Order: sequence, then structure tokens, then C-alpha cells
Amino acid sequence: MRMGFGRALRLTLFGTSHGPAVGAVVEGLPAGTPIDLAKVQEELDRRRPVGRSLATKRQEEDQLRIDGGVEGGRTTGEPIIGTVLNQDVRRAPYAELEDVPRPGHADYPARVRYGPAIDLSGGGIFSGRMTVGLVFAGAVARGLLAPQDIDVLALTRSIGEVDASPGSLDRPLPELRKAVLSHEVGCPDDEAAQRMAAAIEAARREGDSLGGTVELRAEGVPAGVGEPFFDPVESVMAHALFAIPAVKGVEFGAGFAAARMRGSVHNDAFYIEGEKVRTRTNHAGGVLGGLTTGMPIVARVVVKPTSSIAHEQESVSLKTRESRRLVVKGRHDPCIVPRALPVIENLGAFVLADLMLEGGFL
Ligand SMILES: Cc1cc2nc3c(=O)[nH]c(=O)nc-3n(C[C@H](O)[C@H](O)[C@H](O)COP(=O)(O)O)c2cc1C
Repeated sequence: MRMGFGRALRLTLFGTSHGPAVGAVVEGLPAGTPIDLAKVQEELDRRRPVGRSLATKRQEEDQLRIDGGVEGGRTTGEPIIGTVLNQDVRRAPYAELEDVPRPGHADYPARVRYGPAIDLSGGGIFSGRMTVGLVFAGAVARGLLAPQDIDVLALTRSIGEVDASPGSLDRPLPELRKAVLSHEVGCPDDEAAQRMAAAIEAARREGDSLGGTVELRAEGVPAGVGEPFFDPVESVMAHALFAIPAVKGVEFGAGFAAARMRGSVHNDAFYIEGEKVRTRTNHAGGVLGGLTTGMPIVARVVVKPTSSIAHEQESVSLKTRESRRLVVKGRHDPCIVPRALPVIENLGAFVLADLMLEGGFL
């Protein structure tokens, strides 16, 4: 099994959900890159905010330990190793799943591929816990982007049937960030955020779960970043984002809606603003020909409803090949979307830093 990603920058995940630790090794950051470890820790904390009533009851202090590569707030040029110990491990709820796979989770194909040797307790390497390493790697890579005034943000656009109003999203990134951080669901539309929280709470009471859409925005990326064959910005970004557990769709700019638009509407007209070439609209989502246009990069990411629900479900015994009824135990989020925000945001930043480094922009 390989758990690595990236070109000029390379991240490799390690650990498993119920093993001693999880984390990542990041290679390729030039020596002397400033790394604000307090900020990196803040990003990890966003993954698992303490006291969040909507989230899983599994509580862990995701305290980051740097095991190499950073000294005195700067990279040394060596691989950067970030480790978070697993402190809250309860194996019992997962014993039955060795034989009876959860519908919607990775248990079945993982058993077929890796057999009995792999530890799937807590979801194993298919657990959301592995996203600690993704957040770490991206937060570290942001050390390359911050000095270039490149800002990346992920926000909740929809949960279940509730959508943020488009008007609420039409604000500068710093303002949006404040609003995102002020709501437990991470949606900058106050009114929608409350309805989203209520919908998640209702799903939880019913032993069910909800999915949603996350919008990823990156501003300040210069024009020309990307590799037309075969690493367009969309391809590399989607490659990374689809590795996040529970991500089931990615679109850029107008995305799938482009299928119903005319060229006269979809084309983004150019104009000059000061020194810059800009476009009046951004249906391209900041990418043309696989290269950035200098406009904000906008992607929307579909996060599916959590598969581990309290409902009794139909499954099978892999040993006896008989039908089985399954009630999933353990602690599970009724909605993963809010916790996916820092993962999508930081992994998105990693991809941009990687492509910029590769293209000689950094
Ligand atoms: C931050 C995060 C937390 C997650 N927590 C859970 C969880 O509590 N229960 C669960 O069933 N799935 C959870 N998932 C999703 C599963 O890991 C994922 O659905 C599973 O590995 C199957 O992969 P797929 O959905 O990408 O096909 C989480 C995902 C993320 C990103």
C-alpha cells in the first residue's frame, strides 16, 4: 500500500486509526521556509473542535509533535515529520465489523484487498482520523504560500437540503473566514448555518446522517500555474481531494451547470484592472487549459452522508456468506462536512504549493 502524494512537494501519511499514532512526512519544502507551528496546531484543532455537540463523541487532543524538519520556526530542508498520538482508542465496537462489513464504508473492499492482516479497527487507514496527516501537510505547505499573499479557504455551502445563499458568499476572503470560524457548521450565512445545525441535530436524533457541499476558494495564485499534460490544476486538485474519505464529487467554477449554459454566457469576458488581466465572471473557476488564470480558484466538493448510522442495516457475513442485520456501534459524526473543511482547505493549499514549486513560481 502506498500513501504518498505530490511532485515537487511530497506528503506521505503514516499510522492508522487505532494504532499508536497518525501523521505525515512532508518532503521538498526548501530550507528556511517559515513555519508557524501554533497556526499548524490551530488547523489541527479545527478538525476536532472541543465541545462541539454536533460532532462525534470520540474526544482526542490532537497535540502535534514535530519529529524532524523544523527548528526555530523554519524548515531545515530535511523531511518534516508531524505526529499525533492516538489517545482515545476503543476497539470493542469494531469487533463485529471484521466479519460483517458496514454498508457505505470501506470494510468490504479493504478485507478483499488486504485480508485479515490489516487492522480495520476504528476504520483503520480508511478512518477520518488519517486526515490529521493531510491537515498537517497542507498547513506546513502554507508556509510557502503566505509570503506570496495567497489565501485559501473552505466553507460549507450546503448541508442536506439547506443551502447558503449565494449573496452571503460574495465577500472578501478574510471576512468569509471570520464568519466560517464563528459557526460550528462552518457556513458564513448566519441564517442558513442555524438551519444546517438544526438539520444535523434532527438527523442525529433519528440515528441518521447528512452530507453536503464544501466550497474551496484560493485567491492570489498567479496566472499560468499548472501542467497542461497531464497535470492540469483541476486534475491534481481532484486527485488529492478524492483521497479524502467521504468525498464523492468535485467540480470547478460553473462545473456541471456548464452543460446547460451557452458559450455566450459561460465565457468569462476579460478586462484590465490596474496591472492585471481579470474576468468579469468566473465560470472557469480560475482555470483555463489546466492553467490558473489569476482569478480565484473555485472548486466545490461533495461530502457524502456518514455511512456509520445507528439504523439497522442489511449486510452479510463474509465467513458464512449469509445475510446479516447490522447495527453499527461506536462514535460517529451525523455529518462530516464541518470537519472536512480544514482538510479540504489545507490539502487544497498543499496542491497549489506543489504546483507552484514545480512550475518555478516559488
Ligand atoms: C474528518 C472525517 C471524519 C469521518 N468520520 C467518520 C465517522 O465518524 N464515521 C464514518 O462512518 N465515516 C467517517 N468518515 C468517512 C469514512 O472514513 C469514509 O466514508 C470511508 O472511508 C469510505 O470511503 P469513501 O466514503 O470515500 O468511499 C469521516 C471522514 C472524514 C473526512
